[in-house]
Amino acid sequence: MNKLEDLRLRREKITAGGGEKRIAKQHESGKLTARERLDLLFDEGTFIELDAFVKHRSTNFGMETLEAPAEGVVTGYGKVDGRLVFAYSQDFTVMGGSLGEMHASKICKVLDNALKMGAPVVGINDSGGARIQEGVDALSGYGKIFYRNTMASGVIPQITAIMGPCAGGAVYSPSLTDFIFMVENTSQMFITGPQVIKTVTGEEVTAEALGGAMTHNAVSGVSQFSAPDDETCIRDIQRLLSFLPSNNLESAPVYSFDESGVIANERLSEIVPESPNKPYDMHEIIAGLVDDGDFMPYLDHFAKNIITCFARIGGKSVGIIANQPKVAAGSLDISASDKAARFIRTCDAFNIPLLNLVDVPGFLPGTQQEYGGIIRHGAKMLYAYCEATVPKLTMIVRKAYGGAYLAMCSKDLGADLVLAWPTAEIAVMGPQGAANIVFRNEIKAAEDPGATRARLIKEYTDEFATPYKAAEHGFVDDVIEPSLTRMRLIDAFDMLASKRVSVPSKKHGNIPL
Ligand code: HXC
Repeated sequence: MNKLEDLRLRREKITAGGGEKRIAKQHESGKLTARERLDLLFDEGTFIELDAFVKHRSTNFGMETLEAPAEGVVTGYGKVDGRLVFAYSQDFTVMGGSLGEMHASKICKVLDNALKMGAPVVGINDSGGARIQEGVDALSGYGKIFYRNTMASGVIPQITAIMGPCAGGAVYSPSLTDFIFMVENTSQMFITGPQVIKTVTGEEVTAEALGGAMTHNAVSGVSQFSAPDDETCIRDIQRLLSFLPSNNLESAPVYSFDESGVIANERLSEIVPESPNKPYDMHEIIAGLVDDGDFMPYLDHFAKNIITCFARIGGKSVGIIANQPKVAAGSLDISASDKAARFIRTCDAFNIPLLNLVDVPGFLPGTQQEYGGIIRHGAKMLYAYCEATVPKLTMIVRKAYGGAYLAMCSKDLGADLVLAWPTAEIAVMGPQGAANIVFRNEIKAAEDPGATRARLIKEYTDEFATPYKAAEHGFVDDVIEPSLTRMRLIDAFDMLASKRVSVPSKKHGNIPL
């Protein structure tokens, strides 16, 4: 056999992964293989594999004779929509994608290269976690990955796809990255699986209920995106990449947009109901403001009282944070604050301007919230907005009451521009609540308390439940017609594009975690 044949044979053996039987099993369980996933992710013919010949060095438990093609993880780089992206994809057909010393060192090399080149990294996880036969060497491998994930945090976008059962270390590396995608029914994340839980606590739970896609998208908030299958998940990752820059020193790519969409949109004037107590769907307003009505929700199933999403306005990426009056009247609670704060910091890290759409009656009251630490969690939002140096544009749609008005990025928290619709009500609290406190004695002493109460509420509403008091004091820069909002936003983000701010030098801030 000549040397060329030898090379080809070696490569063939490696690309065959765990072999036909295991690949068939992978397909039967509704999953693609590690290599099929990378083929889908990258522009055709652009993926270059590195380290295919790496081998484990373990001699424990019969490992000395055990072949693990590509060490159970395919690594390399390629182009996604023409831009450089690094990736690793764990191969479940090889020792269950388990992570040993050399498997980890391949992933570390990908992370080191992505950081050096300033390019995003996509990690596809399908792994039984630390390779049991390699003991502490496997644990050390995870430690090295955690360290690199943290060093790369805020420098390059790190995207994780969970595409199989992931336990132990296989869930903590993803949690250190910026975005987690999960696939419904075929992926799970947990620190310890159902069997261990049963032994320790006696609790009985299925793997899917414990750590499936919906559990982490809707209940724990660990994962921000879910997809019905591998193909959709990979398309969603490509879509997310289109909103992101390659690194913290660049801006997100700019796309062309339909200029004819920049005309007055009369529909926007019809969405907010006459009655301030009636809900409406904030998604409708978002769709009327962004290019092609198209936006990508972030943590869509979690804390639905606040909407966070990526979109483009005038061809440029923006991160939108919007109260949702349809759910819990759009109030801010612990989960909404956590969700928004993380999203704001993600956008700020990657130079994505923020658009805040405000219709918020306040922070959600109650013992559950207070005992759960709403003060600490709500403070994360205040902190994240104050700290963010990207252009910050706030548009008050309806209610902007009290601390929650500040928490949605008021002028004083550093909003560069605050616009309001004529329907805006900017006050310490709603007219009903205010009347009960401020006019309590007057109402009590009145001959007709009901009529007096109604009169005082009207007086308060006329005086404060408008955008004009705040505009008089310069807290609102302009009151605009809803139908013209999209034009104003395109113009405003253009004006803000050259924003420069300096912040005091420090090691790092101390966000209330
Ligand atoms: C070595 C492993 C492995 C592991 C799976 N395999 N996990 N080999 N180390 N951690 C191997 C299996 O032996 C099997 O080999 C093949 O992968 C496929 O596994 P199956 O069990 O047949 O597949 P399935 O039934 O789909 O179950 C998948 C699974 C299960 C749920 C992931 O294998 C499992 O529970 N594995 C152990 C998970 C775990 O506890 N990991 C350690 C986490 S602790 P053959 O040759 O039979 O095909 C950890 C510490 C890090 O990660 C902590 C850092 C903070």
